[in-house]
This record gives sequence, structure tokens and C-alpha cells, in this order.
Amino acid sequence: MKILFEKRIHSEDEMRDLAKELLNFFLDGDTIILNGNLGAGKTFLVKAISAYWQINNVTSPTFALVNEYSGEKKVIHFDFYRVGEVQELFDIGFDEYLSDDSAIKFIEWGELFTSILPNKKIVINIILSNDDLRTVTVIKYD
Ligand SMILES: Nc1ncnc2c1ncn2[C@@H]1O[C@H](COP(=O)(O)OP(=O)(O)OP(=O)(O)O)[C@@H](O)[C@H]1O
Ligand SMILES: [Mg+2]
Repeated sequence: MKILFEKRIHSEDEMRDLAKELLNFFLDGDTIILNGNLGAGKTFLVKAISAYWQINNVTSPTFALVNEYSGEKKVIHFDFYRVGEVQELFDIGFDEYLSDDSAIKFIEWGELFTSILPNKKIVINIILSNDDLRTVTVIKYD
């Protein structure tokens, strides 16, 4: 594992700036896990990243479990929060989505089902201290 960076974020604008910095780290086919409490900003960050790829209609996949978008990149966006058991993910084609090398895959609440996550991944942890402070750590696993 390699810590790519850690940053303290004080506003939505700073989060958008961080999203822009992250673009350099993402390659087609990558899987990006987002961990952090309710309201930490996982969906906000996926929206901010996707906006740089001209995808402006990102919504939380909490209920759909997965949403798919295409702009300058293909984006697949999962949220495991409401998944009861892992079979539900396989039923909606998790394996097929994950093996799509042309897409960038985001998974919110990936920590809930760590056993099905790929070894090669980027993990983004967002620690919400209060509304004015979020600490974002980005770690790469090969
Ligand atoms: N610096 C910031 N970065 C990200 N979001 C922020 C920031 N400051 C305020 N917010 C607000 O915090 C909220 C974050 O909500 P978001 O849906 O992204 O959280 P989440 O981590 O995806 O939660 P959930 O676990 O429910 O999916 C948004 O309403 C956003 O406007
Ligand atoms: Mg969310």
C-alpha cells in the first residue's frame, strides 16, 4: 500500500479542488472505495470528480445500489449501505461491473463487504470531524 496523500478540507470548494487533484491518480478500470460516516461527503466527492468528466447528473445510488454514467469517462457508482447480503450485489451483476476495464468504479461503504473488493484498489477515507473539517486520506493498494 502507498499513501497517496492526506488533506484537511474546510469547504465544499476545497473538496472540489481535491477532486481535481485526484483525477491524476485514476485510470480506466480502477476501483475506488469510499469510506466515511453518513454525510462525510462520499457522494459529494464522486459528483465533484464526475463533473470534471462532464457528467453532471450523479445522484446517490443508495437505493438503486448502482448507477452508471458516461461522459469523458465511463463511471459506475455503487453504494453498499443498504445491501443486506452479498448475493444482492451478485444478482445485479457486481462481477460484470467490476471487470469492466473501460470504466472507473466507485464504491461507497465498501468496507461493509470487504471480501468482494479487488486487491488492487484506491481507498479514500473521509473522516468528518465537524462541518468545517474533513480529513481525506487516499491510499493505493496493488
Ligand atoms: N467540505 C465538504 N465536502 C463534502 N460535502 C460537504 C462539505 N461541506 C458540506 N458538505 C455537505 O455535506 C453533505 C455530504 O453528503 P454526501 O451525500 O456526500 O455524504 P455521503 O458520505 O455520501 O453520505 P452517505 O453515507 O449517506 O451516502 C452534502 O450535503 C454536502 O453539501
Ligand atoms: Mg453517499
